[in-house]
Amino acid sequence: MSAIERLGLAALQWLDPETAHSLALKALKTPFAPNISPPTSPALATEVAGLKMPNPVGLAAGFDKNAEAIAPLMRAGFGFLEVGAATPRPQPGNPRPRLFRLTEDSAAINRFGFNNEGVEAIAQRLANRPHDIPVGLNLGANKDSKDRAHDYVEVMRLAAPHIDFATVNVSSPNTEKLRDLQGAEALRALLTGVTDIKGTTPVFLKIAPDLTDAEIAEIAQVAAETRVDAIIATNTTLSRDGLQNAHKVQAGGLSGRPLFAPSTRVLARLYLETNGHIPLIGVGGITSAADAYAKIRAGASAVQLYTAMVFCGMSLIPRIVHGLDEMLAHDSFTNVRDAVGVSAKDYA
Ligand code: FNR
Repeated sequence: MSAIERLGLAALQWLDPETAHSLALKALKTPFAPNISPPTSPALATEVAGLKMPNPVGLAAGFDKNAEAIAPLMRAGFGFLEVGAATPRPQPGNPRPRLFRLTEDSAAINRFGFNNEGVEAIAQRLANRPHDIPVGLNLGANKDSKDRAHDYVEVMRLAAPHIDFATVNVSSPNTEKLRDLQGAEALRALLTGVTDIKGTTPVFLKIAPDLTDAEIAEIAQVAAETRVDAIIATNTTLSRDGLQNAHKVQAGGLSGRPLFAPSTRVLARLYLETNGHIPLIGVGGITSAADAYAKIRAGASAVQLYTAMVFCGMSLIPRIVHGLDEMLAHDSFTNVRDAVGVSAKDYA
């Protein structure tokens, strides 16, 4: 970590977390932002659902909700990006404060509630973006929508021509009853609606970590039936197990280190349920190259992260990517694809 990054991070820790996040996004557009080509190597270069990635480490949804910083994020070392969530109409989200740092736990709790500028503004930015690495959009529904399933189709319809993948996010805990869409019948209808109009754009499904094994099995079956192109496991959790910071009483979704074990377990279960036939993207609590490698061994073809950057800064990304390259070489894997799922049984 450079002295400037260390200073910047220390300063940001004093601010209200949402203000700090807005400043960090602004800082990405200045000359102090990272400026590297995505690290790659023969072992790191991979393909997930037909998308070519220089490395398998991606940015998770929610960091760049309005697709404002795509070009600078492409220079931070990621192999792919996911922006959004976007809803059909702009909406303000929940009242502030709605983002809490749990420093002792290396975690965060958020209850943003899909604040975003709406799909039209976001699709316009996506249309004008560079194409160095794949960029996907997280699809959401408006809080006051009468037909949430239709909202996903609407966002997909407007954004599909401008994105490399779309993620059906039915796992945010911050929109009341949204997670009900993970039930088999509702999920089948929703995914059919989105995949019917997808054209050539791959459709991913993002699920919650708070699911029983029976629910995971059911979701795997619906995903296979509706030909979902990949599953992202997982979103934030409602669990508050083992936390120290006083903010643990806040309502919302918990992300960061405490999410690593439960989300990796769901990922591994999903890998075993799908027999490795549907590519999986592992997200939740990755703070190091070893964590990213563990997700891959548990069944992930690629990984994403968000919260660890709040604590460790953007230089974490190339550190994780290079560390992963070393770990693959250490275990004699010539490509990351060969490591996917080799330890799934140990994590499930
Ligand atoms: C998120 N996440 C998220 N996920 C999603 O599918 N749509 C979204 O709009 C958001 N928004 C969002 C905001 C904030 C402030 C956070 C911290 C997280 C969830 C995110 O993409 C990821 O799944 C989890 O945060 C777990 O990964 P990390 O943060 O532990 O690496």
